Amino acid sequence: MNEIVFSDYTLRMVSDADIQHAGQVIRDGGLVAMPTETVYGLGANALDADAVAKVFAAKARPSFDPLIVHVADAAAAWSLVDLDALPETQRHLPGVLAEAFWPGPLTMVLPKREMVPGIVTSGLETVGVRVPRHPVAQKLIAAAGVPIAAPSANVCGGSSPTRAEHGTVDGDVVLDGGPCDTGVESTVVGFDPGGLVVLRLGGLPVEAIERQVKQQGGGVAVTVATPTSSPSEQPQASPGRLDRHYAPRTPMRLIEKLEQLDPASLGNQRVGLMSLRGEQGRGMGFAVAEVLSATGDLTAAAARLFEAMHRLDAAGLDLIVAEAVPEQGLGRAINDRLRRAATAAS
Ligand code: TXA
Ligand code: MG
Repeated sequence: MNEIVFSDYTLRMVSDADIQHAGQVIRDGGLVAMPTETVYGLGANALDADAVAKVFAAKARPSFDPLIVHVADAAAAWSLVDLDALPETQRHLPGVLAEAFWPGPLTMVLPKREMVPGIVTSGLETVGVRVPRHPVAQKLIAAAGVPIAAPSANVCGGSSPTRAEHGTVDGDVVLDGGPCDTGVESTVVGFDPGGLVVLRLGGLPVEAIERQVKQQGGGVAVTVATPTSSPSEQPQASPGRLDRHYAPRTPMRLIEKLEQLDPASLGNQRVGLMSLRGEQGRGMGFAVAEVLSATGDLTAAAARLFEAMHRLDAAGLDLIVAEAVPEQGLGRAINDRLRRAATAAS
């Protein structure tokens, strides 16, 4: 058995034999739940439409919500997409972003080549590609020898799993890589005639992308797409942005500042709190409190977000009150997930 050390976690033991076996399962058209640095994914051979169909079925995922394809490196990503189909002023950008941020929590939505089956992209002419950083994901991609299409391994609309035991959808094989390092899904960017568009806030801060594009992007604009409030509005732009997503089963209320909460409004319900530092919640009568980072570190908070949500959801509460975090760095992705969890639960 190998001991794989990743970040400051020592991963549970996933042996090379386990990974070879899982690679074979992928090649044979089966499903493998795999750790990535963001969240666990449920993977299938991206070039096998029947295998990908099993992912949609296992997740009860609507067919209009496309999957991200995970590859070993930028060259493998470029083999699936047609960079020449981008506006000339933007053709250099995927390379710039790949150089800076891959492997890592960035997904680029690019014009697809014909070899990518339509089921992967929900019929769109673009495909989301990403090079994950997690060593188990990298080894699995190498062992499979094919690109791996993988959504987060939760049942559609539920919270994303950041530990193998959160996974509510089982693959034919589950590779347990311990807790995920980043804890929120990848940042998804697309390329519009007007410039680069952040379609989903995620594990790579927008500020980092803006900095890189400013330095090497040749004046291309970066904008953040506003969340769509109803599926009918614009599902094709980035379907994962639908408000009903990342939902705990327990009703959830999001407030900007805990000071705004009148404890009397909670009645005698059993209420849990999720907040960044937690100190203001003391004495307010919460049954349990999840502190995301006592020091207010937003990166650490992102890594704990879904775990905290899963724990609160299992605590037999009537209500979860979540306090928004500062809107900067990974705080933007955290607030985005909290907003959607609260929308979905209400
Ligand atoms: O970190 C992650 O991205 C995780 C891990 C497993 O890699 N995966 C993940 O996948 O979060 P999923 O399926 O839960 O979310 C993928 C989202 C879609 O819902 C959609 O918003 C966007 O990525 N996406 C994928 N392909 C797209 C495309 N062709 N056009 C627009 N958006 C796309
Ligand atoms: Mg998901």
